Amino acid sequence: MSHKIAPSLLSANFLNLQADVEMINKSEADWFHCDVMDGSFVPNISFGFPIIKQISTIAKKPLDVHLMIVNPDKYISQVKEAGAYMMNVHYEACTHLHRTVSGIHEAGMKAGVTLNPHTPVSLLEDILQDVDMVLLMTVNPGFGGQKFIEHSLSKVSRLKDMILKRNLQTLIEVDGGVNLQTGKQLVDAGADVLVAGNAVFADADPVEMIHKLKSLK
Ligand code: DX5
Ligand code: ZN
Repeated sequence: MSHKIAPSLLSANFLNLQADVEMINKSEADWFHCDVMDGSFVPNISFGFPIIKQISTIAKKPLDVHLMIVNPDKYISQVKEAGAYMMNVHYEACTHLHRTVSGIHEAGMKAGVTLNPHTPVSLLEDILQDVDMVLLMTVNPGFGGQKFIEHSLSKVSRLKDMILKRNLQTLIEVDGGVNLQTGKQLVDAGADVLVAGNAVFADADPVEMIHKLKSLK
């Protein structure tokens, strides 16, 4: 199966968000990636659940919600009510990660666990079988438009090995600095979902850029 593309709305035009949501609807993108930042877990504040709920009323594809916040377990029901398909929490923000993942599943969502660039994939050994996706940060979270961290490629390969050895179906999503060049390397290393913010929204033809990212082989 070919990889998925999840454009990050962080780089969208908030003065005309509807136009960008409709652009993604008609493109070959698979998911909407929604970045929630609290100014505490990361040094930036983005948007929250009321905005995601509005997006969900016109989005024709699943919402992949990435929570860069402390205590994400407090917000499971709000994320569900906002229309999320996938709820991604950071490994670094969850003391009782197994409980959080169980809560996400009980609420009827897919569960994703996110790793910061410095967090080793080996720490997932005892949770991998319980999660639907691992989101590997390929930049330090907080901002769009940053430079891809090269070391991430070996993390993707090592995580892919862990998943295949154990015969799991866990998806690998990558987020940060993804463009046509890094996207190709990431797909080769085993990434299943490419998040792209700046590469899509700064392009003169975002629908065509999504097509090119989707066509990477
Ligand atoms: C970064 C966010 C990303 C961001 C990616 O903290 O989690 O989703 O929007 O943006 P680009 O693709 O521009 O690096
Ligand atoms: Zn993200």
